[in-house]
Amino acid sequence: MNFLDFYGMAQEPFSNAPVSRFYYNSRQHAEALTRLTYAADSMKGLAVLVGQIGAGKTTLARRMLDALPEDKFEAALLVIVHSGITANWLLRRIALQLGVQAPATEKLTLLGQLYQRLVQIYEQGKKAVVLIDEAQMLQTRELMEEFRGLLNLEVPERKLVSFVFFGLPEIEQNLTLDPPLAQRVAVRVRLEPFDRDATQAYIKHRLRLAGASRMLFDEPAIDVIHQSSGGIPRVINTLCDNALLEGYLGRADVIDGPTMQKVAENLQLTTGAAAVATAHTAAYVPGGDEARPRPVMPARRRRLDMRAIDQMLSGLSKS
Ligand SMILES: Nc1ncnc2c1ncn2[C@@H]1O[C@H](COP(=O)(O)OP(=O)(O)OP(=O)(O)O)[C@@H](O)[C@H]1O
Ligand SMILES: [Mg+2]
Repeated sequence: MNFLDFYGMAQEPFSNAPVSRFYYNSRQHAEALTRLTYAADSMKGLAVLVGQIGAGKTTLARRMLDALPEDKFEAALLVIVHSGITANWLLRRIALQLGVQAPATEKLTLLGQLYQRLVQIYEQGKKAVVLIDEAQMLQTRELMEEFRGLLNLEVPERKLVSFVFFGLPEIEQNLTLDPPLAQRVAVRVRLEPFDRDATQAYIKHRLRLAGASRMLFDEPAIDVIHQSSGGIPRVINTLCDNALLEGYLGRADVIDGPTMQKVAENLQLTTGAAAVATAHTAAYVPGGDEARPRPVMPARRRRLDMRAIDQMLSGLSKS
């Protein structure tokens, strides 16, 4: 017997792994997706989506990649894994993702290959779109200039490639490193945290997909979750996951407000601000959770995320 059996579920409902099956199309997510897809479809050049840590940017990027029809788009997702990447690494990754067979190391040759490939995509009647996740790690002027260079590649009536940056709000500062690139941002979207209703709907959605036949959190519990997570999905997951374990240990039918409050306190997540701060620590200080009373999830899961990102790097190009 474990909490899944106890609550009649087939699968962990609040795993932080980026499982696309669990995607919840909140109003915020749906709107963001519509705007970004419009940007890609009209080959606007550069679109930027910013959101707080754990708000769902990567989830959205993957969703967008999946949702762009393959007969109309040559789409790729690239994750900036480190702020020290070079312009050459960047160009080679983009070339690879878009299907350049053997990208050259010499820059001019590489640019030539990329241009040829983009023209080929254009001639197939498709649009080349590159989604860049963790774009706040693009921190040098040199990198920004590469994007500008690529955005200048055109055939008479339109651009040959467009980009969508996903990342933390710092992206905006980085863009000021290259004002002409900043000026090319044609669409800006901010992914807002869930409001209280969306938080509840998100929790229901995940429970349902995991096989639960009823709602396992009462209204006061939802209030606590919303307040202490600030509506950030990753933090909501951690809270709910811990609460289900707590509920199971106490053989509780439903997670109520006081139980949820206790869980939030144990996770040191009693206000929205604390939640955001904790998510930040979890994301950027590996092992930063060690001193906590319980084996709290974010830091550990963050490491899992990184492995997933590596897999994405090798596998997610649609080319
Ligand atoms: N729309 C959604 N539907 C279902 N789950 C979601 C959604 N958005 C976020 N999540 C959950 O929240 C977790 C964190 O989301 P995600 O990794 O996309 O956030 P992020 O904004 O990319 O975070 P970071 O700033 O650390 O890169 C995901 O693993 C997923 O479990
Ligand atoms: Mg992310």
